[in-house]
Amino acid sequence: MNIKDLLTKDFLEKEDILQLLAAEGDEYEQLLKRASEVKLSVLDNKVHLRGLIELSNICRKSCLYCGVRSGNDRVERYSLTDDEVLECARLAHQLGYGSVAIQSGERSDREFTDRITRLVSKIKKIDGGSLGITLSLGEQSEEVYRQWFDAGAHRYLLRIESSTEALYYKIHPHDERHDFHKRLACIDTLLDIGYQTGTGVMVGLPFQTLDHLADDLLFFRSKDVAMVGMGPYIPHPDTPLYTFANQIPAPEERMRLTLKMIAILRLMMPEINMVAATANETVDPMGREKAIQAGANVIMPNLTPNAYREDYLIYPDKACVNDKPEQCRSCLDLRMKAIGHEVLYNAWGDSVAFTKKKA
Ligand code: 5AD
Ligand code: FES
Repeated sequence: MNIKDLLTKDFLEKEDILQLLAAEGDEYEQLLKRASEVKLSVLDNKVHLRGLIELSNICRKSCLYCGVRSGNDRVERYSLTDDEVLECARLAHQLGYGSVAIQSGERSDREFTDRITRLVSKIKKIDGGSLGITLSLGEQSEEVYRQWFDAGAHRYLLRIESSTEALYYKIHPHDERHDFHKRLACIDTLLDIGYQTGTGVMVGLPFQTLDHLADDLLFFRSKDVAMVGMGPYIPHPDTPLYTFANQIPAPEERMRLTLKMIAILRLMMPEINMVAATANETVDPMGREKAIQAGANVIMPNLTPNAYREDYLIYPDKACVNDKPEQCRSCLDLRMKAIGHEVLYNAWGDSVAFTKKKA
C-alpha cells in the first residue's frame, strides 16, 4: 500500500505494521512525522514525569540480558532503607514531579511484599496523597498485587519482554521462575485489578525479527494496555546473552527500529502513555528527544541516591548516572523546550486511554 494511505488508515493490520517497520528513507521520515502529528493533536505537547526510585538490585531471577540477574556476582547488592525511599519520594514532590515509579529486582518473599505495602501507604501520606505511584516490581501473586493496589499504587509496569513464546525462552532460562504463561497471566491480573497497566519490550534483541516486533505491537493493542515502554536492547558483558552481541543490529539501527516501534504504536493507540526509555539515551545522546518526537510522552528522571546508581546497571553506560536530581530536572526541562515540548509539573499524568476506559 502506498505510504500516505497507510499512515492515515484507521486500523493497522499485521501486514501494514510489517510494511511500516521496514520503512526507510523518506517513508521512515513520513512515519515519524505522522506519529508526531497524531500525538500533538491527541495529547498536545505535554511531557509527564515519573521520578524513578531504584529500590534494590537484589533479584531472584536470571534473565539472560539483565546486568542485575541473580547469576551475576560482579554486582554489589544493595537495598535502600525505608527512610531513603521516603526521602526520594519527598524530593520528587519538592521538584514538582507528580508521580514516582518504584522499580526493583524481583523478590516475592513476605518481608519484601509487606515492606512495599508499608512504603506505598507512607508515600500516599505525603501532602495528602498528591503523588501518583507506579510500581515495577515484577511478577507477584494476585493477592500481593491487590494488597499494593489497596495501599494506593495505581499503575504497574511489567514488560512482557517478547510476546513470542519461542523468543521469550531464548532470552530467559526455561524454568519455573521464568515462565512465559505466568508473565502473561500477571498482565491479565493487573488489568483485572484495575491498575493502569503498562508493558513493553526491548528492541534489537538477538534472534528478534520484524515479525516478532509486529506481534508485540499487536499484543499491546489486544490487551488494551494503558502504557508502553520500549527501548533498545543494550548488550551487557556480564550476561549470557552477550555471546550474541555480534549478531544484533548496530546501535543506530536499534535506535531507528525503536523509533519506528514507538511511532507505529502511537498510530495504533493514540491515547496511551509511552515512555522515552533511558536506554534510548545510551545508544544516542539525543535518544530521549528523538523518542518524544516519534510519539512518546513520558520521561522517568532518576531519583535514586547517586551512591547506589552504579549498582543498578541493568545495562552498561546508563545515562545520567552521575547527575544530581536538581540538575536532571532543569536539564530535562530545557531539553524538552528545545524540541517544542513542555514538561507538566505537579500532575499525575494518567493515561488518557485509561481514564476514558474507566469513565
Ligand atoms: N538492555 C536494555 N534494556 C534492558 N532491560 C533489562 N536489561 C536490559 C538490557 N540489557 C529492560 C527490561 C526490563 C527493564 C526494567 O529494563 O525490558 O523489563
Ligand atoms: Fe531480575 Fe530479570 S534479572 S527480573
